[in-house]
Amino acid sequence: MTEPADARSELAGIAASLRAYLEWQQDTGATGIPRAPKRAAVAQAQAAHADAGPQTAAPAAPVPVVAAPVPPPQPTPRAPVPDAQAARRDAPAGPPVTPPDFETFALSAKPVAPVVAASAVLDTSPELRATRLPVMAAEVAACTRCVLSTTRTSTVFSRGNPDAKLVFVGEAPGAEEDASGLPFVGRAGQLLDKMIAAMGLSPERDVYVCNIIKCRPPENRPPKPEETEACIPYLHEQLALVDPKVIVALGNTAVSTLLGTKLGITKVRGQWKLYKGRTLVMPTYHPSYLLRPSAQQVEAKKQAWDDLQAVMKELGVKPPPTGRERAAKS
Ligand code: URA
Repeated sequence: MTEPADARSELAGIAASLRAYLEWQQDTGATGIPRAPKRAAVAQAQAAHADAGPQTAAPAAPVPVVAAPVPPPQPTPRAPVPDAQAARRDAPAGPPVTPPDFETFALSAKPVAPVVAASAVLDTSPELRATRLPVMAAEVAACTRCVLSTTRTSTVFSRGNPDAKLVFVGEAPGAEEDASGLPFVGRAGQLLDKMIAAMGLSPERDVYVCNIIKCRPPENRPPKPEETEACIPYLHEQLALVDPKVIVALGNTAVSTLLGTKLGITKVRGQWKLYKGRTLVMPTYHPSYLLRPSAQQVEAKKQAWDDLQAVMKELGVKPPPTGRERAAKS
């Protein structure tokens, strides 16, 4: 039976999380809470989580330290988004087999010398992470692989902790990011930080944040396919080095690029998927979408929170401690 003190502290934790959640809801313009959640949506998110199972119960097959050479480009049609449960169930015992569509962008990109092929960066040791990521950031800063290099102010590589188990991937830098050289520092970034705080996590310590492409597209238009093709090897290498347990893919561009799907975010959000056949991906709405006032936003925000709660559950993240709990510890 739960001790009363434990129950009180658990309740206080839930209240703190709820307060953080309500703060980011308020920030995105919410003026009220829907009376009852849609049962079907809740059941679907719970079922998806149960299907995917805890990370520890079905660990990804070990990754070889040196990858096989990258095969020549194949005009492979995109396969449907792989289902995490089915992929795990059907996975062979040996090294993971990368579904052909995952590499489509990287393989069709023009080869550029300094970028190590994504599939060759499979040594995920902290030492390599610490040494290679800053070198890669410098390579990105000098990159001229696409036309966006002629209009950018800064390249935007990452922020947060490269040792984190949770990575958020957005689309592309906007004006504030282009000016500062850091991802998600504008309005969408502030909302993202509130979402992360509502999960009880620190944006600096507990997560790593990056984008599909590293340079701002003019007028914040979506990246063109050739820009994504040129840039995506950087992200593949970044993700291989950081080696997170969970990637949250924010919005259509991140989802379609990481998962090779043409399905829209409303169709795939809330469902566990796999990146490169081994890393769990939770697709959810982009914070910019949640900031746009519209009739659907109340439900979208609730769904985004459901998605983040599924991530918390997968990572074993508890709601943030209350002020009283923090004070009691110090
Ligand atoms: N939107 C993104 O997708 N990324 C950023 O860094 C900022 C806004």
